[in-house]
Amino acid sequence: MELAKIIKESVAYSDSKGDQRDFYNLVEYAAKTPKVKGQPPFLEIGTRRGGSALALLKIIEKMYPGTVLVTVDPYGNKPYDGKPWKYGGDFYTKMKDLLSGYENHVHYHMTSEDFIKIMDTVHYWSQGKEHSFSKFSFIFLDGSHLPETVTFEYKNLFPRLIKGGYMVIDNTDFYERHIQKFFSGESSCDFELINTKDQTIIKKLN
Ligand SMILES: C[S@@+](CC[C@H](N)C(=O)[O-])C[C@H]1O[C@@H](n2cnc3c(N)ncnc32)[C@H](O)[C@@H]1O
Repeated sequence: MELAKIIKESVAYSDSKGDQRDFYNLVEYAAKTPKVKGQPPFLEIGTRRGGSALALLKIIEKMYPGTVLVTVDPYGNKPYDGKPWKYGGDFYTKMKDLLSGYENHVHYHMTSEDFIKIMDTVHYWSQGKEHSFSKFSFIFLDGSHLPETVTFEYKNLFPRLIKGGYMVIDNTDFYERHIQKFFSGESSCDFELINTKDQTIIKKLN
């Protein structure tokens, strides 16, 4: 499969435009997701304009047809990690336009903290069946980059990854590499740490 083509078609809608290495990692590891019966959803935290979600949907379309992509982002000009960036209505409508052709895309318009609180109380429907969020096939964390938020996401979401599945955490060089240090210090044999630089990539072993 042409991963380069998928990257070319979606990176223009991402904030990785200048440096595409992050996007290559995302696409490469998403495409390594093990195929399992009743494939659980892919999950993305932090969607912005929809570029990385588009790349994930294209991989799903080619390799895991019918599998759902769940995205979570509050938009609404929520102050972003104390920085001047705003992710408002404009990004939301552009994301909806970009991804509107994908019936298997489900968006939760809320923070990751709220999604994690409710994920065991809601279900989604796909291909005539009701499904829970007890497992995810692949997880991309690219919402808030505050260490405490990312740590909360990791602790609550990583245990739900399927065996052999990957979690990619973007921009872990932020905040004095706090997240990188966190993962390097973790001694669980539950995961293999593949990369801890600008992105942290972890494989679930069991
Ligand atoms: C870096 S952008 C995401 C870029 C996107 N993944 C891409 O590569 O195309 C970060 C996004 O995270 C969202 N965000 C901020 N805080 C969040 C939180 N607590 N939970 C989920 N999303 C959050 C912002 O609204 C923004 O749209």
